[in-house]
Amino acid sequence: MRKLAVFLFMVVLGVCVGWAFGGASGEILIGEYGSFTGTTADFGKTTHNGIMLAIEEINKKGGVLGKKVRIIAEDDASSPEQAATVVKKLVNQDRVVAVLGEVASSRSMFGAPICQAAKVPMVSPASTNPEVTRKGDYIFRVCFTDDFQGKVMAKFAAEYLKKRRAAILKDVKNDYSVGLAKFFKEDFIKRGGQIVAESSYKEGDKDFRANLASIRAKNPDCIFIPGYYSEVGNIARQARELRIQVPLLGGDGWESSKLIEIGKKAVDGCYFSTHYAIDDKNPETQKRVADFVKAYRAKYKEDPNGLSALGYDAARILCDAIARAKSTEGPKIRAALAATKNFPGVTGNITIDKNRNAVKSAVVMQVVGTKFKFVTRIQP
Ligand code: PHE
Repeated sequence: MRKLAVFLFMVVLGVCVGWAFGGASGEILIGEYGSFTGTTADFGKTTHNGIMLAIEEINKKGGVLGKKVRIIAEDDASSPEQAATVVKKLVNQDRVVAVLGEVASSRSMFGAPICQAAKVPMVSPASTNPEVTRKGDYIFRVCFTDDFQGKVMAKFAAEYLKKRRAAILKDVKNDYSVGLAKFFKEDFIKRGGQIVAESSYKEGDKDFRANLASIRAKNPDCIFIPGYYSEVGNIARQARELRIQVPLLGGDGWESSKLIEIGKKAVDGCYFSTHYAIDDKNPETQKRVADFVKAYRAKYKEDPNGLSALGYDAARILCDAIARAKSTEGPKIRAALAATKNFPGVTGNITIDKNRNAVKSAVVMQVVGTKFKFVTRIQP
């Protein structure tokens, strides 16, 4: 009996001390969920690198509200169900004050309702499907949305490349892919173009020859493939094997050096829209980008891609909001995030609109050999 009483006393004491010196006053805990393994492992890794660089810089300058910031990162293995599981853990077990993630829209849509229900603000660095931030008023993003991105590529195809007969090949298991295909189609038709073929696949598929043969039969002058880099790389190779030589076009889901590793020569000359380019001479961001690229190269010995830049911006905007909120309470951070205006991001100046989205320009990139080259910037 006495042993038990002493034991219980120690437990209660431990919890109180832990609360006073740990959770409550020691550090600010921020959760991150991303695909560190699985079909889109490169998304998770490059985003995480950007986030960690931002947090390191912030902590070097004294942290936020006088405390150090600590990221608790969880791998969702590129699976929406796993995304829900790890977000529950971050929110309920780790009691993080806010969550960064995901990149893929389908996974953000699984994580968002959990954050929303717990009143824990979530900031997606890169999910572009319009539905993501409609999950609730605690859900934010620092990137543009696909209604805009679809128009960017339709305009680029119609006006810049002068294409008239597009085919579309989309991933039906992926909300981002389905949405972007729809927005591209609407705008391309509005511009007088025609969609001559539509075909679909599912994430994880390896053989696209049947899709490509049916597309080839309709004789398109370009093919829009709003998917992720692994499948797109394989699609490109098989398209060239089938002697389809027209340019392939895509969206930000192409953004990975793995696209070129998988697609090799087959993706050479192709175009995609995305959020940022190192070689973009945009006067608004040039100086910031140069500093960011320098710091990133020093830490990781490689160039930051668009996801690294968005991860960096998302982490900095969140920390800035916590500082302005002067509190780590969910509702106060939420209000501060919603009031974000003209934040100087490396992906552009970021203002959060009333739907918790960021209105920003997009860049179009071309694959040239083993590199992505900036082609043009398109305003909203
Ligand atoms: N926009 C994609 C989505 O919503 C994710 C993505 C963003 C991938 C940027 C690569 C680069 O699913």
